[in-house]
Amino acid sequence: MTSGVATISNLKTRQASIQYIPLPMTGDRAVMGFHRHLLEDRIRTESFLAAIETIVKPGDIVADIGAGTGILSFASCRAGAKRVYAIERNAIVHKAREVARSNGFHSQIMFLQQDANTITLPEQVDVMVSECIGLMGMGRLMAAVAHLAKRLLKANGMLIPGKLSMYLAPVESRVHFDYVHVWDKHWYGFDFSRLQQTANNNVYVAWFDPMSFLADAKQVASLDLLCDDVTCVHRELMFTSCRVGYVHGFCGWFEMHLGGGVSLDSSPFSPPTIWRQVFLPLEREVLIQEGTTINVDLYVNAGATKDETDDYFAWNTEVRNPNSNIPEAGFRQSTYSSVNRSP
Ligand SMILES: C[S@@+](CC[C@H](N)C(=O)[O-])C[C@H]1O[C@@H](n2cnc3c(N)ncnc32)[C@H](O)[C@@H]1O
Repeated sequence: MTSGVATISNLKTRQASIQYIPLPMTGDRAVMGFHRHLLEDRIRTESFLAAIETIVKPGDIVADIGAGTGILSFASCRAGAKRVYAIERNAIVHKAREVARSNGFHSQIMFLQQDANTITLPEQVDVMVSECIGLMGMGRLMAAVAHLAKRLLKANGMLIPGKLSMYLAPVESRVHFDYVHVWDKHWYGFDFSRLQQTANNNVYVAWFDPMSFLADAKQVASLDLLCDDVTCVHRELMFTSCRVGYVHGFCGWFEMHLGGGVSLDSSPFSPPTIWRQVFLPLEREVLIQEGTTINVDLYVNAGATKDETDDYFAWNTEVRNPNSNIPEAGFRQSTYSSVNRSP
């Protein structure tokens, strides 16, 4: 620890450790921070705008679900929409209405502060658009949008996004593993190790270097939002390691087909987006050989718990070295355990 005396060397240490970026902290200001973060992701936003530009035709009726600041509604108007229903449960919708007025779209856009799960509209729509992308793609809003589209979209209507694919790969990454395994040590002389199990049963957003992959990635699911169940995915995957190393967990990501030939993905092979990738850690690292099989039984449920922030991931893993009938290691982990089971 540096002394509190304001010497030049103390100031330099302080400056090096501080990021001089103001963060909005509360209420409306926190919501503004969230929406700014979304708009600043040019890959995310421009992909949606490109899909809208291709799909929305002059005279179309559009529903924008989870409209936020209204960006997708504005793009729909610019593409020629006759009328847009901008549905948003947060009070930001009233600010979006003001922005619409500044841009001359106020007579075309109907802003409704309502929940997507219960909304009714006076007419069916040609296009439904929603930036409803959650961890590994799936999320509560996506489930609500898929449900709503079945009710409100015209027979030949278009849903943006239309398709979701999810991918997973086993990884060796000590940085990620060490980040999760901080509770086993003492903090200020106190033993916090009982919290380690809670940390193990969590999912993390993180960047990954594809060099950390221990095997080729596999597709977990390929879902059509209009036809398939997008609330729940259950898939068993078997990976065969291409090298010696320590397996520390799994890296997951999504690819969304927005429509009109536009895709958006959170792959570690692609330029970074706000979603990063998802890290599913293992309870402990396992040394593996080339040819080791890593089996994972993955379950993602975007509607399992009542807690809005906690979508449900479960990943049961078995590591089996070549020429051995006995598993090297086996783990049963889930975010449900993190929330509900005392360690
Ligand atoms: C990821 S933001 C997208 C905002 C904006 N469409 C954009 O692309 O910048 C998702 C928005 O959906 C809203 N939302 C989430 N669940 C909702 C629900 N069930 N009904 C209505 N709005 C919802 C959130 O408040 C948030 O503003």
